[in-house]
Formats: sequence, structure tokens, C-alpha cells
Amino acid sequence: MNNKFWRGKKILITGGGGFLGHHLLRLLQKGKTIDIFAPNSRDYDLRSRTKCKKVVQGVDIVIHLAAKVGGIGFNIKYPGEMLYDNIMIGAQLMEEARRAGVEKFVAIGTVCSYPKYTPIPFKEDDLWNGYPEETNAPYGLAKKMLLVQAQAYRRQYGFNAITLIPVNMYGPGDNFDESSSHVIPALIKKVIQAKQKKEKEVIVWGTGRATREFLYVEDCARAIIKATEKYNKSEPVNIGAGFEISIKELVHMICKILYFHGQIVWDKSKPDGQPRRKLNTTRALREFGFIAQTPFVKGLRKEIDWYLENSRISV
Ligand SMILES: NC(=O)c1ccc[n+]([C@@H]2O[C@H](COP(=O)([O-])OP(=O)(O)OC[C@H]3O[C@@H](n4cnc5c(N)ncnc54)[C@H](OP(=O)(O)O)[C@@H]3O)[C@@H](O)[C@H]2O)c1
Repeated sequence: MNNKFWRGKKILITGGGGFLGHHLLRLLQKGKTIDIFAPNSRDYDLRSRTKCKKVVQGVDIVIHLAAKVGGIGFNIKYPGEMLYDNIMIGAQLMEEARRAGVEKFVAIGTVCSYPKYTPIPFKEDDLWNGYPEETNAPYGLAKKMLLVQAQAYRRQYGFNAITLIPVNMYGPGDNFDESSSHVIPALIKKVIQAKQKKEKEVIVWGTGRATREFLYVEDCARAIIKATEKYNKSEPVNIGAGFEISIKELVHMICKILYFHGQIVWDKSKPDGQPRRKLNTTRALREFGFIAQTPFVKGLRKEIDWYLENSRISV
């Protein structure tokens, strides 16, 4: 990290209390004093234009993580909120940041913005070649507008907004709330509960054939720091770990770590979500030298250990 870059600047991190935000704040504050403001949504609900205007005053850099986020079930249940909240938060915050003379705006997008059928590995240039997978389209499209806005503002106002597109994240501090969790915490919790209840099987959504790529959350925070320091262009940049794993393999890995020897039952009446996901990550390497460092099994163990410790469960 280049300490000189951050010195004397006022940094706003929206969503700083969330999963990714927590890790980003920790890395930024490690051993140094940086002027960071990271308000929560209770004090600054960014769906409100007035709050957006207030929160960017005197700020040099905005790192925008705040979003309504959830797993597949949450996206199916709340498509309206996923669209409205994310579009309003992003559009108003970037507009107020520009008006307030913010020097740089780092927008965090999502892999859910990619078309449902994108050639593997997903290249940034393929972002506009189709409609996203239906279950997460309202979220993915709302967040994709950050990219359109960033590019439009750079053209019209010379505003330095960049867009990063992380793949699915995981790691300590992940969201284990059953109503909104993503696939990894949801599976870990299911397997642990089955062990606790001495059940002989675990029921998992979908066919198990869909594939995903998972990025350790701290690696993503490192990528954001590097991009904030070094990247100043309008093209979006994928942030990934460079591997693909099927949900079936993932479930087996989790069962192995947790010593669960029961059966996996696939509930094929439930959706798989996007069929395949894996990002091409060469642009991030070329433009700001980012490459993910954490091996998947190691990261997965850390998430499981963190969850067991924090929920005081022993299995
Ligand atoms: N998790 C992933 O796998 C993943 C993958 C790709 C991209 N991303 C992106 O990464 C970013 C961070 O995700 P995350 O997993 O850390 O999510 P998270 O844990 O759910 O955190 C979301 C944050 O957004 C804030 N927020 C939500 N609604 C808000 C509102 N109306 N006004 C102000 N703040 C609001 C929340 O603040 P409060 O807690 O104070 O309510 C929270 O701090 C998001 O932009 C997401 O789209 C995540």
C-alpha cells in the first residue's frame, strides 16, 4: 500500500460496516492514521438525496460499497427493492460526489451484471452482450448503471470514476443470516445444522451443476486499494480469483472440512442461478498489478473457523 497516496485525503467509505467494508477498513487502517468516514445506513440512508449530498461534503475520495445485497432466495423475494435501492443509492451518490468536487469515485459493481450466457472466462468487453440471469437481473442491472454513469460523467465532466466488478466473495465476517446469505455461508450452515441434529442428509438447492468462482474477501479489499491508488480509466475491471468450481464440488469440500458423511440431496425444483461463472482477470493484473493470493481451501477453512468461533458452535 502506498501510504503517501492516502495521506491528507478524506476518504468516504459507504457500506463500511458490511462484509467487504469491514475488511477494507481494517487493511486501510492497519498501522496508520487515515481520515476515513464510514457511516452506517441508520445515520445516512443513501436512498435519500439529502443524505447523499451531506455525506460527500469535504470528501476527496469515495469508495462506494453500500448496496442492498443478498443470495438467490433474497433476490427472488425482493426484486423491486434490489432494483430501486441500488439504483437510487448509486445514481444520487455519484451525482452529489461530482457536484461536491470529489477527486475520485470508486464504484463497486458485481458479477451479477454479466449476461446469463457469457463465454468463459467472462471478459469485461462481454458485459453488454445479453440480459443477466433472471433471478438476479434487477440487482445486476441496477449496479450496472454505476458503470454507465461513471463513463458518462467521465466524458461530460471529466469526473474520475472507476468501476470494479468483483465475483462472489467469501471469508470471515460473511453473512450467515438465512434470509439473505450467499451460497457458501448458506451451505456451511446447512451442513453444521445437519451435524448438530445428527441428520443423515442435507438438501441443497439446484442441480449442483452450476459453477462459481469465489474471491477471498480480503483479496478483494486489496484489489480495491490498488485500483484506488493506480487506476484512472473508464473501462470496468473484473476482480476475481481465476478458478471455477461446481456447486457439487463446493458442497463436497465443505462436508469434508466439517467431517459430514451424510448424503447430499439435490432439490432440482429450486433454481441454479447463472449456469457458469468465472472471470477473466488479466485487466486487473495489467492495469494495477492485482492478483488474488488466497487458496480457496485455506479461505474456506478460515470462514468455517470464524463462523464456529463466533457462533460458539462445536461440531
Ligand atoms: N458479497 C459478495 O459476494 C459480493 C460480490 C460482488 C460484489 N459485491 C458488492 O460489494 C459491495 C459490498 O457487499 P457486501 O457483501 O459487503 O454487502 P453487505 O455486507 O450486505 O454490506 C452492505 C453495506 O451497504 C450498506 N447499505 C445498504 N443499504 C444502504 C442504504 N440504503 N444506505 C446506506 N448504506 C446502505 C449497509 O449498511 P448498514 O449495515 O449500516 O445497513 C452495509 O454496510 C456491494 O456493493 C456489493 O454489491 C458483493
